[in-house]
Amino acid sequence: MSVLPVLEGRQLRLRAPTREDLSRLQRWYADPELVAPFDRFSSDSFTELALGVESAPSDPTSLAPRFMLERKSDRLAVGCVGHYRPHPVLEFVDVWYLIAEPSARGQGLGKEAVGLLVDHLFHTETLERVGATCDVENTASYRLVEGLGFRREGTMSSALFHHGRWHDVAFYGVTRPEWAARPRPS
Ligand SMILES: CC(C)(COP(=O)(O)OP(=O)(O)OC[C@H]1O[C@@H](n2cnc3c(N)ncnc32)[C@H](O)[C@@H]1OP(=O)(O)O)[C@@H](O)C(=O)NCCC(=O)NCCS
Repeated sequence: MSVLPVLEGRQLRLRAPTREDLSRLQRWYADPELVAPFDRFSSDSFTELALGVESAPSDPTSLAPRFMLERKSDRLAVGCVGHYRPHPVLEFVDVWYLIAEPSARGQGLGKEAVGLLVDHLFHTETLERVGATCDVENTASYRLVEGLGFRREGTMSSALFHHGRWHDVAFYGVTRPEWAARPRPS
């Protein structure tokens, strides 16, 4: 599998997925309640998932998970994050994030993981903008990115289908200078 840096946070370690993570990822991806708020729900075979994770480092458009979120206190993988280029011409990257273990939610882990990921992207890529999209009803998701300094730049009507209906989706962004200037916890 890929050689990625390990990103160290206060509560989390972000590391490349290993083969041992694949069955856990497949279990998460097979649960529409976990995946539906931010992605089309479709269940990949184990082989498709493994190939997607393996090829992601060489594919900037890949939606596959790029980092597992390992809780430092017990080394449990509680979620994953990814990033992808959503547009063939415009030069920005969108991030996505999942805290899959319900008991791990609401403790700041999502915010810490996305903060580490955005730091990593601005450090390693010649990007001027990192974005995110959130279902306008996904309060945890938009509060997470707003808490990190992302600005809501607009809303797309009826852009995502899940739970039997179309949902509006807000798009968010943060520029390199805004990210560099944001207040950091001491
Ligand atoms: C979105 C998600 C990653 C948040 O992770 P988390 O670790 O629980 O979030 P955090 O504890 O870091 O909290 C981030 C912010 O969201 C708020 N929040 C968390 N859970 C919330 C909830 N259920 N309702 C309302 N606000 C919530 C927190 O208060 C915090 O806001 P604040 O900084 O203004 O206080 C998690 O709920 C999840 O995995 N959801 C399913 C997948 C998904 O929707 N991903 C996002 C789309 S890409």
